[in-house]
Amino acid sequence: MTAPIAIIGAGIAGLSAAHVLHAAGHEVYLFEKSRGSGGRMASKRSEVGSLDLGAQYFTARDRRFIDALNQWRSQGHVVEWDPALYQYRAGSLTPSQDEQPRWVGSPRMSAITRALLGDLPITFGCRITEVFRGPHHWTLQDADGQNHGPFSHVIIATPAPQATPLLASAPKLAAVAAGVVMEPTWSVALAFKSPLETPVEGCFVQEGELDWFARNRCKPGRDTDYDTWVLHATSAWSREHLDAARENVVELLHGAFAELIGCLVPEPSFTLAHRWLYARPAQGHQWGALADADLGLFACGDWCASGRVEGAWLSGHEAATRLLDHLE
Ligand code: FAD
Ligand code: NAI
Repeated sequence: MTAPIAIIGAGIAGLSAAHVLHAAGHEVYLFEKSRGSGGRMASKRSEVGSLDLGAQYFTARDRRFIDALNQWRSQGHVVEWDPALYQYRAGSLTPSQDEQPRWVGSPRMSAITRALLGDLPITFGCRITEVFRGPHHWTLQDADGQNHGPFSHVIIATPAPQATPLLASAPKLAAVAAGVVMEPTWSVALAFKSPLETPVEGCFVQEGELDWFARNRCKPGRDTDYDTWVLHATSAWSREHLDAARENVVELLHGAFAELIGCLVPEPSFTLAHRWLYARPAQGHQWGALADADLGLFACGDWCASGRVEGAWLSGHEAATRLLDHLE
């Protein structure tokens, strides 16, 4: 009997790889350091409803991803989100419609990764710290010093800085991952008892502290009695305020939002700040995935592609395809 394939990281990249391998008849086993799946596509459950603190929506351009999207749509995990879009530039807020279809998980962003995970075996709350190879198989060690294995192959599907130490058995791949810079993003959620008097539902911001804000509640399925908003700071602002206290981040970004939105913004009845340390690669790459197929070690994630949901999914797909090609 062949040993299963280990996948480290249950974001969209790891789950895309898992899905391809499982469909091809291989046994996979996932390890995830958080308590749930989704990574940067996860949704936070809160007293004011579920909040998309990471990925806000996604677009689909590659044929393979469009096919996957259409399947998720037919299964009810994804719906189109067509917000009243605005942009803020040179001190003014103006409508900014376009023809781009934008998609969200339904009833929350994490519905997509939850569906991809299905019944696949996974250990949550398990941070892998070492990946090492014996004469025939791979073994993984976690942060508590416990070993997991044996595995025939390993796919590392974490952000590049977290992949680097796990790629130590393949120094060339480790060096590529070590060269990837990932930028942080501070994300803040605000909830108001009464709806803000504005038609804005999503806004691309081109100056100041913020990069984007959206009315979370207007996304399909995010039913709540509160008017919920999610604000994202720019990479530069997030870097400068990396170690700021959460309450200060909330205060500063709430203030910036109140300046831009053009209506009265009362004190929110609920606030939350989340720091994404590795939110996005500083630049896009076109590696698809990293592979040492002879060794049986692969790496994937948005940092191997476009730095978006679509790129992460494609990268996981590519890692799994390369693994399968090598087995033929
Ligand atoms: P991740 O989602 O980061 O998954 C990696 C997983 O590995 C995580 O679950 C992590 O917990 C786990 N992990 C890490 N280290 C270990 C370890 N040692 N052991 C075990 N598990 C480990 N994209 C868009 O297309 N549209 C958007 O609007 C958009 N907005 C965004 C806004 C923000 C604030 C952020 C942060 C991202 C946004 N993105 C957006 C980017 C998009 O979310 C990512 O490109 C995509 O989700 C990355 O998926 P991934 O699987 O590569 O990585
Ligand atoms: P997209 O095509 O909607 O947006 C791409 C970029 O085009 C936007 O960032 C924006 O600058 C601009 N843009 C698009 N439509 C616009 C409009 N109507 N008016 C004004 N500007 C507009 O989506 P795509 O290419 O799928 O990108 C995903 C989004 O995710 C981007 O907004 C990106 O900034 C964001 N993202 C954020 C991350 C973070 O950490 N904050 C990480 C990764 C992606």
